Amino acid sequence: MLTRRDLLKAGAWTSAAAALPFGCTSPDSDPRKARLGVAAARDAISPSPPTTPFVMDLPIPPAPLPVAPFASPDAAPFIGPGTKFYELVEEERLVQVHPQLPPTLVWGYRDINVPRSSVPSANFAVGPTFRVKMATGAGQGVVVRQHNQLPANHQGFGVPFTTVHLHGAHTESRSDGYPTLDFGPGESFDYAYPMRAPGFSTGTPSNDIPSTLWYHDHLIDFTRQNVYRGLVGFYLVFDDLDTGDETTGLQLPSGPFDVPLVVQDRVFAADGSLVYDVFNHNGFLGDKLLVNGAIQPRFHVARRKYRFRFLDGSNARFYQIFLAAADGQTFRFDQIATEGGLLSAPIRALESFRLAPALRVEIVIDFSQFQPGDVVYLENRLEQVDGRRPGDLLPRGPQLLKFIVGEAVPDPSHVPDVLRPFAPIAPAVLAAAIRREFQFNRQQGAWAINGLLAGDLSFPITQSPLDTPEIWHLVNGGGGWAHPVHIHLDYMRVLTRNGHLPPIDERDGVAKRDTVILGPGEEVEVFLRFRDFAGRYVFHCHNLEHEDMAMMARFDTL
Ligand code: C2O
Ligand code: CU
Ligand code: CU
Repeated sequence: MLTRRDLLKAGAWTSAAAALPFGCTSPDSDPRKARLGVAAARDAISPSPPTTPFVMDLPIPPAPLPVAPFASPDAAPFIGPGTKFYELVEEERLVQVHPQLPPTLVWGYRDINVPRSSVPSANFAVGPTFRVKMATGAGQGVVVRQHNQLPANHQGFGVPFTTVHLHGAHTESRSDGYPTLDFGPGESFDYAYPMRAPGFSTGTPSNDIPSTLWYHDHLIDFTRQNVYRGLVGFYLVFDDLDTGDETTGLQLPSGPFDVPLVVQDRVFAADGSLVYDVFNHNGFLGDKLLVNGAIQPRFHVARRKYRFRFLDGSNARFYQIFLAAADGQTFRFDQIATEGGLLSAPIRALESFRLAPALRVEIVIDFSQFQPGDVVYLENRLEQVDGRRPGDLLPRGPQLLKFIVGEAVPDPSHVPDVLRPFAPIAPAVLAAAIRREFQFNRQQGAWAINGLLAGDLSFPITQSPLDTPEIWHLVNGGGGWAHPVHIHLDYMRVLTRNGHLPPIDERDGVAKRDTVILGPGEEVEVFLRFRDFAGRYVFHCHNLEHEDMAMMARFDTL
Protein backbone atom coordinates (compact mmCIF):
# COMPACT_ATOMS: atom_id res chain seq x y z
CA MET A 1 0.00 0.00 0.00
CA LEU A 2 1.21 3.47 -0.81
CA THR A 3 1.97 5.62 2.14
CA ARG A 4 1.25 9.31 2.14
CA ARG A 5 4.95 9.94 1.95
CA ASP A 6 5.19 7.83 -1.19
CA LEU A 7 2.41 9.88 -2.67
CA LEU A 8 4.25 13.05 -1.83
CA LYS A 9 7.49 11.78 -3.26
CA ALA A 10 5.77 10.68 -6.43
CA GLY A 11 4.00 14.01 -6.66
CA ALA A 12 0.76 12.04 -6.79
CA TRP A 13 -0.59 13.84 -3.77
CA THR A 14 -0.85 17.21 -5.46
CA SER A 15 -2.01 15.78 -8.77
CA ALA A 16 -4.67 13.74 -7.01
CA ALA A 17 -5.81 16.95 -5.37
CA ALA A 18 -5.78 18.80 -8.66
CA ALA A 19 -7.77 16.11 -10.38
CA LEU A 20 -10.39 16.40 -7.70
CA PRO A 21 -11.21 20.08 -7.62
CA PHE A 22 -13.97 19.66 -5.09
CA GLY A 23 -13.13 16.16 -3.97
CA CYS A 24 -12.87 17.13 -0.38
CA THR A 25 -16.60 17.71 -0.21
CA SER A 26 -16.99 13.97 -0.38
CA PRO A 27 -14.38 11.93 1.45
CA ASP A 28 -16.11 8.83 0.09
CA SER A 29 -14.93 9.62 -3.37
CA ASP A 30 -11.57 11.00 -2.39
CA PRO A 31 -8.95 8.42 -3.31
CA ARG A 32 -6.41 10.05 -1.01
CA LYS A 33 -8.55 9.32 1.99
CA ALA A 34 -9.58 5.90 0.73
CA ARG A 35 -5.90 4.97 0.36
CA LEU A 36 -5.18 6.25 3.80
CA GLY A 37 -7.93 4.15 5.31
CA VAL A 38 -9.48 7.03 7.19
CA ALA A 39 -12.39 5.67 9.12
CA ALA A 40 -15.78 6.89 8.07
CA ALA A 41 -17.73 8.83 10.62
CA ARG A 42 -20.96 7.59 12.07
CA ASP A 43 -24.07 9.01 10.47
CA ALA A 44 -25.28 10.85 13.51
CA ILE A 45 -23.09 11.78 16.42
CA SER A 46 -24.56 10.76 19.75
CA PRO A 47 -24.00 13.09 22.67
CA SER A 48 -21.15 12.43 25.09
CA PRO A 49 -22.02 10.59 28.31
CA PRO A 50 -22.85 12.86 31.27
CA THR A 51 -19.94 13.89 33.51
CA THR A 52 -20.02 15.69 36.86
CA PRO A 53 -18.29 19.05 36.54
CA PHE A 54 -15.38 20.23 38.71
CA VAL A 55 -14.31 16.91 40.20
CA MET A 56 -10.93 16.84 38.46
CA ASP A 57 -8.00 19.15 39.13
CA LEU A 58 -6.76 21.36 36.32
CA PRO A 59 -3.80 19.65 34.62
CA ILE A 60 -0.70 21.85 34.41
CA PRO A 61 1.56 20.38 31.72
CA PRO A 62 5.17 20.50 32.96
CA ALA A 63 8.08 22.10 31.11
CA PRO A 64 10.27 19.82 29.00
CA LEU A 65 13.86 19.39 30.19
CA PRO A 66 16.67 20.38 27.84
CA VAL A 67 18.77 17.54 26.45
CA ALA A 68 22.49 17.48 25.66
CA PRO A 69 23.39 19.26 22.41
CA PHE A 70 23.13 17.03 19.36
CA ALA A 71 24.37 17.41 15.83
CA SER A 72 21.71 18.60 13.43
CA PRO A 73 22.63 19.31 9.84
CA ASP A 74 19.22 20.89 9.18
CA ALA A 75 19.29 23.20 12.18
CA ALA A 76 23.05 23.88 11.96
CA PRO A 77 22.78 27.47 10.66
CA PHE A 78 20.95 28.41 13.86
CA ILE A 79 23.05 26.50 16.37
CA GLY A 80 25.58 28.23 18.60
CA PRO A 81 27.00 27.89 22.09
CA GLY A 82 23.80 29.35 23.57
CA THR A 83 21.37 27.01 21.82
CA LYS A 84 19.01 24.93 23.95
CA PHE A 85 18.05 21.48 22.71
CA TYR A 86 14.86 19.57 23.37
CA GLU A 87 13.43 16.30 22.13
CA LEU A 88 9.76 15.51 22.00
CA VAL A 89 8.02 12.30 21.07
CA GLU A 90 4.70 12.22 19.25
CA GLU A 91 2.86 9.19 20.50
CA GLU A 92 -0.49 7.57 20.98
CA ARG A 93 -1.37 7.33 24.64
CA LEU A 94 -4.22 6.92 27.08
CA VAL A 95 -5.23 9.92 29.15
CA GLN A 96 -7.86 10.46 31.79
CA VAL A 97 -9.96 13.41 30.69
CA HIS A 98 -12.53 12.85 33.43
CA PRO A 99 -12.76 10.31 36.29
CA GLN A 100 -16.21 9.15 35.13
CA LEU A 101 -15.02 8.31 31.62
CA PRO A 102 -12.84 5.37 30.62
CA PRO A 103 -9.36 6.52 29.46
CA THR A 104 -9.18 8.26 26.10
CA LEU A 105 -6.70 7.35 23.39
CA VAL A 106 -5.09 10.58 22.18
CA TRP A 107 -2.10 11.63 20.13
CA GLY A 108 0.18 13.81 22.17
CA TYR A 109 3.65 15.23 22.55
CA ARG A 110 5.87 13.89 25.34
CA ASP A 111 9.18 15.16 26.69
CA ILE A 112 11.70 12.45 25.81
CA ASN A 113 13.09 12.67 29.38
CA VAL A 114 9.77 11.46 30.74
CA PRO A 115 9.36 7.72 30.31
CA ARG A 116 6.39 6.52 28.35
CA SER A 117 3.66 5.77 30.83
CA SER A 118 1.14 3.00 30.87
CA VAL A 119 -0.86 4.77 33.57
CA PRO A 120 -3.43 6.98 31.89
CA SER A 121 -3.66 9.62 34.60
CA ALA A 122 0.11 10.10 34.64
CA ASN A 123 0.01 11.78 31.24
CA PHE A 124 -1.59 14.91 29.95
CA ALA A 125 -3.39 15.24 26.68
CA VAL A 126 -1.68 18.61 26.20
CA GLY A 127 2.04 18.58 25.36
CA PRO A 128 4.79 19.95 27.60
CA THR A 129 4.81 23.73 28.14
CA PHE A 130 8.06 25.32 26.94
CA ARG A 131 9.31 28.37 28.82
CA VAL A 132 11.90 30.02 26.64
CA LYS A 133 13.88 33.28 26.66
CA MET A 134 14.25 35.54 23.65
CA ALA A 135 17.78 35.49 22.22
CA THR A 136 19.96 38.57 22.20
CA GLY A 137 22.09 37.28 19.33
CA ALA A 138 22.64 34.43 16.91
CA GLY A 139 22.87 30.84 18.11
CA GLN A 140 20.93 31.39 21.33
CA GLY A 141 17.65 29.93 20.23
CA VAL A 142 15.99 26.57 20.57
CA VAL A 143 16.20 23.36 18.57
CA VAL A 144 13.42 20.84 19.02
CA ARG A 145 13.85 17.34 17.62
CA GLN A 146 10.42 15.84 17.10
CA HIS A 147 10.24 12.05 16.94
CA ASN A 148 7.16 10.68 15.24
CA GLN A 149 6.28 7.50 17.12
CA LEU A 150 2.64 7.52 16.16
CA PRO A 151 1.29 4.12 15.13
CA ALA A 152 1.65 3.46 11.42
CA ASN A 153 -1.55 1.43 11.49
CA HIS A 154 -3.83 3.35 13.79
CA GLN A 155 -7.57 3.05 14.21
CA GLY A 156 -9.95 5.83 13.36
CA PHE A 157 -9.48 9.35 12.12
CA GLY A 158 -6.22 11.24 11.84
CA VAL A 159 -3.11 10.51 9.80
CA PRO A 160 0.17 9.59 11.51
CA PHE A 161 2.24 11.94 9.37
CA THR A 162 2.96 15.23 11.03
CA THR A 163 4.54 18.61 10.57
CA VAL A 164 4.91 20.78 13.65
CA HIS A 165 4.01 24.46 13.45
CA LEU A 166 5.08 26.83 16.21
CA HIS A 167 2.15 29.17 15.87
CA GLY A 168 3.12 32.83 16.13
CA ALA A 169 6.84 32.19 15.80
CA HIS A 170 9.23 34.08 13.55
CA THR A 171 11.20 31.26 11.91
CA GLU A 172 12.66 30.13 8.63
CA SER A 173 10.25 28.33 6.33
CA ARG A 174 11.78 24.88 6.89
CA SER A 175 11.05 25.06 10.61
CA ASP A 176 7.59 26.59 10.23
CA GLY A 177 5.66 23.35 10.00
CA TYR A 178 4.98 23.81 6.32
CA PRO A 179 1.89 21.69 5.56
CA THR A 180 3.58 19.34 3.09
CA LEU A 181 6.95 19.10 4.86
CA ASP A 182 5.81 16.18 6.94
CA PHE A 183 7.50 13.17 8.48
CA GLY A 184 6.03 9.79 9.26
CA PRO A 185 6.14 7.07 11.92
CA GLY A 186 9.73 6.23 12.83
CA GLU A 187 11.06 9.48 11.40
CA SER A 188 12.16 12.64 13.17
CA PHE A 189 12.50 16.30 12.22
CA ASP A 190 14.63 19.07 13.74
CA TYR A 191 12.98 22.45 14.16
CA ALA A 192 15.12 25.56 14.70
CA TYR A 193 13.58 28.49 16.56
CA PRO A 194 16.09 31.38 16.53
CA MET A 195 14.06 33.37 19.12
CA ARG A 196 15.21 36.67 17.65
CA ALA A 197 13.18 39.82 17.29
CA PRO A 198 11.88 40.31 13.72
CA GLY A 199 14.17 42.70 11.87
CA PHE A 200 17.35 41.32 13.43
CA SER A 201 18.96 40.57 10.08
CA THR A 202 18.82 44.19 8.97
CA GLY A 203 19.97 45.57 12.30
CA THR A 204 16.53 47.04 12.97
CA PRO A 205 14.99 44.67 15.49
CA SER A 206 11.34 45.34 16.25
CA ASN A 207 9.69 44.80 19.58
CA ASP A 208 7.42 42.14 18.10
CA ILE A 209 8.20 39.88 21.03
CA PRO A 210 5.82 36.95 21.46
CA SER A 211 4.37 35.93 24.76
CA THR A 212 2.17 32.87 24.33
CA LEU A 213 2.93 30.65 21.36
CA TRP A 214 1.59 27.19 20.81
CA TYR A 215 2.72 24.27 18.72
CA HIS A 216 0.41 21.99 16.84
CA ASP A 217 0.27 19.64 13.90
CA HIS A 218 -0.19 21.35 10.53
CA LEU A 219 -0.45 18.41 8.11
CA ILE A 220 -2.06 19.36 4.84
CA ASP A 221 -5.73 18.31 4.69
CA PHE A 222 -5.53 16.59 8.10
CA THR A 223 -4.71 19.31 10.59
CA ARG A 224 -8.27 19.24 11.95
CA GLN A 225 -8.11 15.51 12.65
CA ASN A 226 -4.60 15.45 14.10
CA VAL A 227 -5.15 18.49 16.31
CA TYR A 228 -8.49 17.12 17.48
CA ARG A 229 -6.69 13.91 18.46
CA GLY A 230 -4.49 16.00 20.72
CA LEU A 231 -1.33 17.30 19.01
CA VAL A 232 -1.18 20.66 20.82
CA GLY A 233 1.17 22.28 23.34
CA PHE A 234 2.22 25.67 24.75
CA TYR A 235 5.45 27.56 24.14
CA LEU A 236 5.81 30.59 26.41
CA VAL A 237 8.35 33.29 25.66
CA PHE A 238 10.09 35.61 28.13
CA ASP A 239 12.61 38.44 27.87
CA ASP A 240 14.15 41.23 29.96
CA LEU A 241 10.78 42.94 30.36
CA ASP A 242 8.50 39.96 30.81
CA THR A 243 10.96 37.97 32.86
CA GLY A 244 8.89 35.22 34.42
CA ASP A 245 9.98 36.56 37.81
CA GLU A 246 7.81 38.77 40.01
CA THR A 247 10.72 40.78 41.37
CA THR A 248 12.22 41.89 38.04
CA GLY A 249 11.05 43.55 34.82
CA LEU A 250 7.34 44.27 34.69
CA GLN A 251 6.74 42.07 37.75
CA LEU A 252 3.73 40.35 36.22
CA PRO A 253 2.33 37.33 38.09
CA SER A 254 4.83 34.55 37.41
CA GLY A 255 5.87 30.98 38.13
CA PRO A 256 2.98 28.99 39.60
CA PHE A 257 0.80 32.11 39.28
CA ASP A 258 1.24 32.22 35.49
CA VAL A 259 -1.04 29.57 34.06
CA PRO A 260 -1.67 28.73 30.41
CA LEU A 261 -5.21 27.49 29.71
CA VAL A 262 -6.10 25.82 26.42
CA VAL A 263 -9.84 25.66 25.88
CA GLN A 264 -11.17 22.91 23.62
CA ASP A 265 -14.47 21.21 22.84
CA ARG A 266 -14.74 17.50 22.15
CA VAL A 267 -17.23 14.65 21.84
CA PHE A 268 -16.62 11.35 23.65
CA ALA A 269 -18.12 7.90 23.17
CA ALA A 270 -19.21 5.81 26.16
CA ASP A 271 -15.92 3.89 25.95
CA GLY A 272 -14.01 7.15 26.42
CA SER A 273 -12.82 7.43 22.84
CA LEU A 274 -12.84 10.68 20.93
CA VAL A 275 -15.61 11.07 18.38
CA TYR A 276 -15.05 13.13 15.26
CA ASP A 277 -17.02 13.52 12.06
CA VAL A 278 -14.71 13.58 9.04
CA PHE A 279 -17.69 14.55 6.88
CA ASN A 280 -18.19 17.83 8.71
CA HIS A 281 -16.62 20.64 6.73
CA ASN A 282 -18.44 23.56 8.29
CA GLY A 283 -16.75 23.33 11.67
CA PHE A 284 -16.89 20.47 14.14
CA LEU A 285 -18.29 21.32 17.57
CA GLY A 286 -17.93 19.26 20.73
CA ASP A 287 -20.41 19.04 23.58
CA LYS A 288 -17.77 18.75 26.32
CA LEU A 289 -15.60 21.71 27.28
CA LEU A 290 -12.04 20.91 28.26
CA VAL A 291 -9.36 23.05 29.83
CA ASN A 292 -5.80 21.73 29.54
CA GLY A 293 -7.19 18.38 28.43
CA ALA A 294 -9.62 17.83 31.32
CA ILE A 295 -13.41 18.15 31.15
CA GLN A 296 -14.55 21.10 33.30
CA PRO A 297 -11.73 20.95 35.84
CA ARG A 298 -11.30 22.85 39.11
CA PHE A 299 -8.34 24.93 40.20
CA HIS A 300 -7.35 25.91 43.75
CA VAL A 301 -6.03 29.46 43.77
CA ALA A 302 -4.48 31.62 46.45
CA ARG A 303 -5.93 35.05 47.27
CA ARG A 304 -3.63 37.02 45.02
CA LYS A 305 -3.09 37.94 41.35
CA TYR A 306 -2.76 35.29 38.62
CA ARG A 307 -1.86 35.59 34.97
CA PHE A 308 -3.93 33.33 32.73
CA ARG A 309 -2.95 32.73 29.12
CA PHE A 310 -6.00 31.61 27.21
CA LEU A 311 -5.70 29.77 23.92
CA ASP A 312 -8.67 28.65 21.88
CA GLY A 313 -7.42 25.24 20.76
CA SER A 314 -10.82 24.20 19.43
CA ASN A 315 -11.35 23.32 15.79
CA ALA A 316 -14.28 25.67 15.25
CA ARG A 317 -15.75 26.96 18.51
CA PHE A 318 -15.71 30.61 19.54
CA TYR A 319 -16.12 31.63 23.18
CA GLN A 320 -17.02 34.71 25.17
CA ILE A 321 -15.44 34.21 28.56
CA PHE A 322 -16.70 35.79 31.78
CA LEU A 323 -15.50 35.43 35.37
CA ALA A 324 -18.75 34.80 37.21
CA ALA A 325 -20.14 33.53 40.49
CA ALA A 326 -22.66 30.68 40.57
CA ASP A 327 -25.50 33.23 40.49
CA GLY A 328 -24.09 34.88 37.38
CA GLN A 329 -22.61 37.99 39.00
CA THR A 330 -19.52 38.94 37.05
CA PHE A 331 -16.11 40.17 38.20
CA ARG A 332 -13.65 42.23 36.20
CA PHE A 333 -10.04 41.66 35.24
CA ASP A 334 -7.24 43.25 33.21
CA GLN A 335 -6.19 42.12 29.75
CA ILE A 336 -2.42 42.27 29.18
CA ALA A 337 -1.68 40.42 25.94
CA THR A 338 -2.89 38.92 22.66
CA GLU A 339 -1.23 36.57 20.15
CA GLY A 340 1.13 39.44 19.35
CA GLY A 341 2.55 39.55 22.86
CA LEU A 342 2.07 42.14 25.57
CA LEU A 343 -0.20 45.08 24.82
CA SER A 344 1.16 48.62 24.88
CA ALA A 345 -0.91 49.15 27.99
CA PRO A 346 -3.34 46.94 29.89
CA ILE A 347 -7.04 47.04 29.12
CA ARG A 348 -8.42 47.54 32.61
CA ALA A 349 -11.59 46.24 34.22
CA LEU A 350 -12.72 44.09 31.33
CA GLU A 351 -15.90 42.10 31.87
CA SER A 352 -15.36 39.49 29.16
CA PHE A 353 -13.32 38.65 26.10
CA ARG A 354 -13.82 36.79 22.86
CA LEU A 355 -11.87 33.71 21.82
CA ALA A 356 -11.85 32.23 18.33
CA PRO A 357 -9.75 29.30 17.11
CA ALA A 358 -6.02 30.11 17.57
CA LEU A 359 -6.59 33.38 19.41
CA ARG A 360 -4.72 34.01 22.64
CA VAL A 361 -5.89 36.40 25.31
CA GLU A 362 -3.94 36.96 28.50
CA ILE A 363 -5.63 38.37 31.56
CA VAL A 364 -4.75 39.01 35.19
CA ILE A 365 -7.36 38.09 37.79
CA ASP A 366 -6.96 39.41 41.31
CA PHE A 367 -8.43 36.81 43.65
CA SER A 368 -7.75 39.01 46.69
CA GLN A 369 -11.23 40.48 46.03
CA PHE A 370 -12.67 37.14 47.21
CA GLN A 371 -12.77 35.42 50.60
CA PRO A 372 -11.22 32.05 51.43
CA GLY A 373 -13.66 29.35 50.39
CA ASP A 374 -15.35 31.46 47.69
CA VAL A 375 -15.86 29.82 44.35
CA VAL A 376 -15.97 31.60 41.02
CA TYR A 377 -16.13 30.24 37.48
CA LEU A 378 -14.98 30.87 33.96
CA GLU A 379 -18.22 30.91 32.03
CA ASN A 380 -18.74 30.85 28.26
CA ARG A 381 -21.83 32.86 27.31
CA LEU A 382 -21.42 32.63 23.57
CA GLU A 383 -23.96 30.37 21.96
CA GLN A 384 -22.71 28.28 19.07
CA VAL A 385 -24.77 25.54 17.51
CA ASP A 386 -23.33 25.84 14.02
CA GLY A 387 -19.67 25.26 13.19
CA ARG A 388 -19.82 27.99 10.60
CA ARG A 389 -20.08 30.85 13.04
CA PRO A 390 -20.88 31.71 16.65
CA GLY A 391 -24.42 32.69 17.63
CA ASP A 392 -25.70 35.19 20.16
CA LEU A 393 -24.36 36.26 23.49
CA LEU A 394 -26.60 34.68 26.14
CA PRO A 395 -27.26 35.82 29.73
CA ARG A 396 -25.67 32.64 31.06
CA GLY A 397 -23.63 29.77 29.66
CA PRO A 398 -21.69 26.65 30.56
CA GLN A 399 -18.86 26.91 33.05
CA LEU A 400 -15.43 25.79 31.89
CA LEU A 401 -13.39 25.95 35.05
CA LYS A 402 -14.09 26.40 38.75
CA PHE A 403 -11.73 28.48 40.88
CA ILE A 404 -11.70 27.64 44.58
CA VAL A 405 -10.21 30.53 46.50
CA GLY A 406 -7.80 29.73 49.34
CA GLU A 407 -5.70 31.79 51.75
CA ALA A 408 -3.80 34.94 50.91
CA VAL A 409 -0.12 34.55 50.05
CA PRO A 410 2.52 37.26 49.46
CA ASP A 411 1.99 38.97 46.12
CA PRO A 412 4.81 41.16 44.82
CA SER A 413 3.31 41.16 41.30
CA HIS A 414 1.85 44.14 39.45
CA VAL A 415 0.01 45.03 36.31
CA PRO A 416 1.84 48.26 35.43
CA ASP A 417 0.20 50.99 33.35
CA VAL A 418 2.72 50.52 30.57
CA LEU A 419 3.55 47.05 29.23
CA ARG A 420 5.41 46.84 25.90
CA PRO A 421 4.70 50.16 24.19
CA PHE A 422 4.97 50.59 20.44
CA ALA A 423 3.90 53.32 18.04
CA PRO A 424 1.24 52.75 15.40
CA ILE A 425 2.57 52.49 11.87
CA ALA A 426 3.27 56.00 10.60
CA PRO A 427 0.92 57.46 7.95
CA ALA A 428 3.79 57.96 5.49
CA VAL A 429 4.67 54.27 5.73
CA LEU A 430 1.04 53.29 5.22
CA ALA A 431 0.73 55.58 2.20
CA ALA A 432 3.65 53.86 0.51
CA ALA A 433 2.57 50.31 1.31
CA ILE A 434 1.85 47.65 -1.30
CA ARG A 435 -1.86 46.84 -1.19
CA ARG A 436 -3.27 43.35 -1.67
CA GLU A 437 -6.79 42.03 -1.34
CA PHE A 438 -7.85 38.54 -0.27
CA GLN A 439 -11.46 37.42 -0.31
CA PHE A 440 -12.43 34.43 1.80
CA ASN A 441 -15.42 32.78 0.24
CA ARG A 442 -17.19 29.61 -0.60
CA GLN A 443 -17.14 28.30 -4.10
CA GLN A 444 -18.78 25.20 -5.50
CA GLY A 445 -18.94 23.54 -2.13
CA ALA A 446 -15.38 24.26 -1.01
CA TRP A 447 -13.54 27.11 0.61
CA ALA A 448 -11.61 29.48 -1.54
CA ILE A 449 -9.41 32.54 -1.35
CA ASN A 450 -9.86 35.00 -4.22
CA GLY A 451 -11.85 32.32 -6.02
CA LEU A 452 -8.95 29.90 -6.05
CA LEU A 453 -9.09 26.59 -4.31
CA ALA A 454 -6.16 27.83 -2.45
CA GLY A 455 -5.37 24.62 -0.62
CA ASP A 456 -3.18 23.89 -3.61
CA LEU A 457 0.20 24.95 -2.30
CA SER A 458 2.07 24.32 -5.54
CA PHE A 459 2.10 28.04 -6.29
CA PRO A 460 2.16 31.20 -4.17
CA ILE A 461 -1.00 33.29 -4.26
CA THR A 462 1.23 36.29 -3.61
CA GLN A 463 4.88 37.18 -3.28
CA SER A 464 6.03 39.66 -0.70
CA PRO A 465 9.44 41.32 -0.76
CA LEU A 466 11.10 41.32 2.67
CA ASP A 467 11.25 44.52 4.73
CA THR A 468 8.53 46.06 2.60
CA PRO A 469 5.35 47.59 4.04
CA GLU A 470 2.16 45.93 2.84
CA ILE A 471 -1.51 46.39 3.61
CA TRP A 472 -3.65 43.31 3.22
CA HIS A 473 -7.35 43.86 2.85
CA LEU A 474 -8.98 40.69 4.18
CA VAL A 475 -12.60 40.38 3.14
CA ASN A 476 -15.23 37.88 4.16
CA GLY A 477 -16.90 37.07 0.88
CA GLY A 478 -20.23 36.41 2.54
CA GLY A 479 -22.49 33.48 3.24
CA GLY A 480 -22.83 33.91 6.98
CA TRP A 481 -19.54 32.27 7.89
CA ALA A 482 -16.95 33.42 10.39
CA HIS A 483 -13.28 32.96 9.57
CA PRO A 484 -10.44 33.45 12.07
CA VAL A 485 -7.69 34.31 9.59
CA HIS A 486 -4.10 33.53 10.57
CA ILE A 487 -0.96 34.71 8.76
CA HIS A 488 2.36 33.00 9.44
CA LEU A 489 5.81 34.56 10.03
CA ASP A 490 5.05 38.09 11.25
CA TYR A 491 2.37 39.92 13.16
CA MET A 492 -0.48 41.96 11.77
CA ARG A 493 -1.26 45.51 12.79
CA VAL A 494 -5.00 45.94 12.47
CA LEU A 495 -5.65 49.31 10.84
CA THR A 496 -9.39 49.25 10.19
CA ARG A 497 -12.32 46.93 10.78
CA ASN A 498 -15.28 47.46 8.47
CA GLY A 499 -13.83 50.83 7.56
CA HIS A 500 -13.62 52.03 11.15
CA LEU A 501 -11.07 52.25 13.92
CA PRO A 502 -10.74 48.68 15.25
CA PRO A 503 -11.71 47.73 18.80
CA ILE A 504 -9.05 48.47 21.40
CA ASP A 505 -7.89 44.86 21.77
CA GLU A 506 -6.76 44.67 18.14
CA ARG A 507 -6.03 48.33 17.36
CA ASP A 508 -2.58 49.22 16.03
CA GLY A 509 -0.61 50.99 18.72
CA VAL A 510 -2.23 48.85 21.42
CA ALA A 511 -2.16 45.28 20.15
CA LYS A 512 -0.49 43.09 17.55
CA ARG A 513 -2.28 40.02 16.28
CA ASP A 514 -1.45 36.85 14.40
CA THR A 515 -5.11 35.90 13.87
CA VAL A 516 -8.02 38.23 13.09
CA ILE A 517 -11.69 37.32 13.14
CA LEU A 518 -13.58 37.92 9.92
CA GLY A 519 -17.20 37.71 11.01
CA PRO A 520 -20.00 37.43 8.44
CA GLY A 521 -19.73 40.37 6.04
CA GLU A 522 -16.67 41.78 7.78
CA GLU A 523 -13.47 43.15 6.36
CA VAL A 524 -10.22 44.27 7.94
CA GLU A 525 -7.13 46.07 6.73
CA VAL A 526 -3.92 44.88 8.29
CA PHE A 527 -0.38 46.11 8.00
CA LEU A 528 2.37 43.55 7.45
CA ARG A 529 6.10 43.72 6.99
CA PHE A 530 7.73 40.33 6.58
CA ARG A 531 11.28 40.16 7.79
CA ASP A 532 14.46 38.13 7.87
CA PHE A 533 13.35 34.87 6.26
CA ALA A 534 12.78 34.38 2.55
CA GLY A 535 10.76 31.29 1.76
CA ARG A 536 7.31 29.78 1.45
CA TYR A 537 4.71 30.29 4.16
CA VAL A 538 0.95 29.97 4.45
CA PHE A 539 -2.02 31.97 5.61
CA HIS A 540 -5.35 30.36 6.25
CA CYS A 541 -8.59 30.24 8.12
CA HIS A 542 -7.96 28.69 11.55
CA ASN A 543 -11.37 27.11 11.68
CA LEU A 544 -9.58 23.82 11.10
CA GLU A 545 -12.38 22.32 9.02
CA HIS A 546 -12.23 25.36 6.72
CA GLU A 547 -8.44 25.22 6.63
CA ASP A 548 -8.43 21.58 5.56
CA MET A 549 -11.15 22.31 3.05
CA ALA A 550 -8.70 24.44 1.12
CA MET A 551 -9.09 27.79 2.86
CA MET A 552 -5.34 28.12 2.93
CA ALA A 553 -2.92 29.77 0.55
CA ARG A 554 0.81 29.88 0.17
CA PHE A 555 2.65 33.18 0.14
CA ASP A 556 6.32 33.54 -0.58
CA THR A 557 8.69 36.04 0.92
CA LEU A 558 11.52 37.12 -1.35
CU1 C2O B 1 -2.01 27.57 14.13
CU2 C2O B 1 -1.00 27.84 10.29
O1 C2O B 1 -1.56 27.62 12.19
CU1 CU C 1 0.82 29.97 12.64
CU1 CU D 1 -13.16 29.85 7.96
